[in-house]
Amino acid sequence: MPYTVQENRGQTDRIGKPHDRIDGRLKVTGDARYSLDFALPNALHSELVLATIGRGRVTGFDLAEAEAVPGVRRIYTHENAPQRQSPRFFGAGGTGARSWLPLQDDRVYYHGEIVALVVADTLVAAREAAAKVKVSYAAEAPAATLDAEGAEVEDPEGMTAIATGDAQAAMSRAATTHEAEYTTPAQHHNAMELYGAAAQWNGENLTVWTPSQFVYGFQKGLSHELGIERSRIRVISPFVGGAFGGKGMLMNFVSLVAGASRELGRPVQLMCSREACYTVGSFRAETAHAVRMGADEQGHLGPYEHTGRELTSRPDTYLVRGTENTVRMYDFSDYGSNVLAVHADRQTPGFMRAPPEVPYFFALESAIDELARKTGTDPVQFRVQNDTQKDPVTGTPFTSRSLVECYEAAGERFGWDRYSPEVGSMTDGDELIGWGVATATYPTQMSPATARVTLSGDGRARVMTAAHDVGTGVYTIFAQSVADKLGVPVSAVTVELGDTELPPGPISGGSITTASSISCIEQACDRIAERLAAETSEGSTPAERMKASGRPFIEEYAEWTPLQTGAEALRAHYDGDVRIVGGAQKDFCAFAFGAEFCEVRINKYTREIRVPRLIGAFAAGRIMNEKTARSQLLGGMIWGIGSALHEETELDPRYGAYMNDNLAEYLVPVNADVQELEAIIVPEVDKQVNPAGVKGIGELGCVGTSAAIANAVYHATGVRVRDLPIRMEKLLPA
Ligand code: MOS
Repeated sequence: MPYTVQENRGQTDRIGKPHDRIDGRLKVTGDARYSLDFALPNALHSELVLATIGRGRVTGFDLAEAEAVPGVRRIYTHENAPQRQSPRFFGAGGTGARSWLPLQDDRVYYHGEIVALVVADTLVAAREAAAKVKVSYAAEAPAATLDAEGAEVEDPEGMTAIATGDAQAAMSRAATTHEAEYTTPAQHHNAMELYGAAAQWNGENLTVWTPSQFVYGFQKGLSHELGIERSRIRVISPFVGGAFGGKGMLMNFVSLVAGASRELGRPVQLMCSREACYTVGSFRAETAHAVRMGADEQGHLGPYEHTGRELTSRPDTYLVRGTENTVRMYDFSDYGSNVLAVHADRQTPGFMRAPPEVPYFFALESAIDELARKTGTDPVQFRVQNDTQKDPVTGTPFTSRSLVECYEAAGERFGWDRYSPEVGSMTDGDELIGWGVATATYPTQMSPATARVTLSGDGRARVMTAAHDVGTGVYTIFAQSVADKLGVPVSAVTVELGDTELPPGPISGGSITTASSISCIEQACDRIAERLAAETSEGSTPAERMKASGRPFIEEYAEWTPLQTGAEALRAHYDGDVRIVGGAQKDFCAFAFGAEFCEVRINKYTREIRVPRLIGAFAAGRIMNEKTARSQLLGGMIWGIGSALHEETELDPRYGAYMNDNLAEYLVPVNADVQELEAIIVPEVDKQVNPAGVKGIGELGCVGTSAAIANAVYHATGVRVRDLPIRMEKLLPA
């Protein structure tokens, strides 16, 4: 049954009230303090010196001019920096963004790697001196791209292969087949808040302020790298100015800053330049996808083969492995997938909003569109008729799956019944009009979480957990959750986040915070309610009972672990390790779904591309706050427009160097690129996925958008762009 928009809005108790952000005022007035906003008395400032070769060795430094700059305190290079333990790399189970620290030897793995740190009394002096550091190198020719000669292909067998049935044999039997290669470019985070760190010692105790999605993990990583106990390190990150995965793992300059602070006996701050953020941080690596699929005469999907190649650094194997999720989307008969790592002379990639899904769903949803066209089936109908309520690989049922409802809701709003399938058949003056659709999804992931909730006699409540609000609205929904449960106004709830002095929260990555922390916080609130109910029957809410009981204060501490995990996961969580479960598991299969419909208009002569309409419908279980949820989904869709039409980090292969490492030349969507945009929330009740009934929406909105736009571009022009981003020159007649 099709939904109407009215019915979708706030009409169910599973959709939380739209509530303004409780930290909104702090943010717009500048009162919210980000990691580098804490004024540390007597602090020194620092600046990085970055390698200007793409591969090779440092052969020496000439520091005379730099050291002569007034105010310079110390210049660290590999010749004088202390030797430290290598980070525990995320890919090997740790929390480090990569497996090596800077200034440990003369090796240069990539262009822009840290080769020196200048510490000075002022930022101006540090920057002036850094510019005067002369580095000599023995340079080698880098192999910096996926297909470069000298890049090494690794097949981490067993880790990435998914196969059921016999996809090859099924391909030869299929009535209609499609085979193509799709590629996606390198992309970089451009969060408003730059990377950086500030460190201060008090005797043997260290405090670090650094933008973080995971203070406990950072604490553990620093403990390892600096060789001091975790209990002596405090990591603070109360506000994060955009994260999107870029601040999820400990960067390798943080212990350098902490070490400098210890040695120099003063606080040290480092704020990376925008340009440095492109190389000291992580990024979304370029990917290539060889896809084959087939369908029978009735348009039912048969085999699906997908081999991904992903670029990574020389030392580290970082893979996003998106076929783990693409193979769950439709009812294929046989699967064969694998993912290869291509080691090149670049930094280690890392998380970036929907790390696997953004590139892999461009490939999947483009290929599905191409195959649907070949079978002569409407692209919406094709997806609907190949829907499945069970994980097609394992047969495990989805906890809930409302993909078809999403197509119905968005399709009706969009007016898909007026779709004219023939290429180039919809025009308006000099504009070619194209319509396209694609599926969005994101696995529901969860991690252990802990939280402390208090209620005092004056009707005020407090919730404490070292989770993070990376701009998503976490402060607000935590307050709403406590307010609802305890019967106090949202304004009476104080939320404390982002500090290792608080109980460990989940890493704010993988869209797991709401599902995990709300499951935990509600448990703490329920226990408060139970205790008060046992004491008095006066009043109907816990806050009223609190008043009746005459108690001054009540507190509960809760630990929550996802069903599939146990004591080991909780221990690891306390220990600063990541224990995420979700998506397709042995005994459950949990994903949020969405459908995105877009219209493109392309000028017949200039091939300028516009997206006048983008409408998505999303079903993600319980929605805590309709307003912040919609912001997440709309923000994701805008990100999707960027991944389709704008974002690409350009690289000069001769030097392995990024060419547009700044906000002027790295294109992201601006207001003029975003016109009509709508996110419809499709009600969905999932009692199985977790106690909160929440699926997570931080990443969902940006998945599939690039394919929807590419599919619309094909419909308008007949040009199939399989290599993102879609730029006007790719649409010019050959
Ligand atoms: Mo998100 S890329 O998992 O922070």
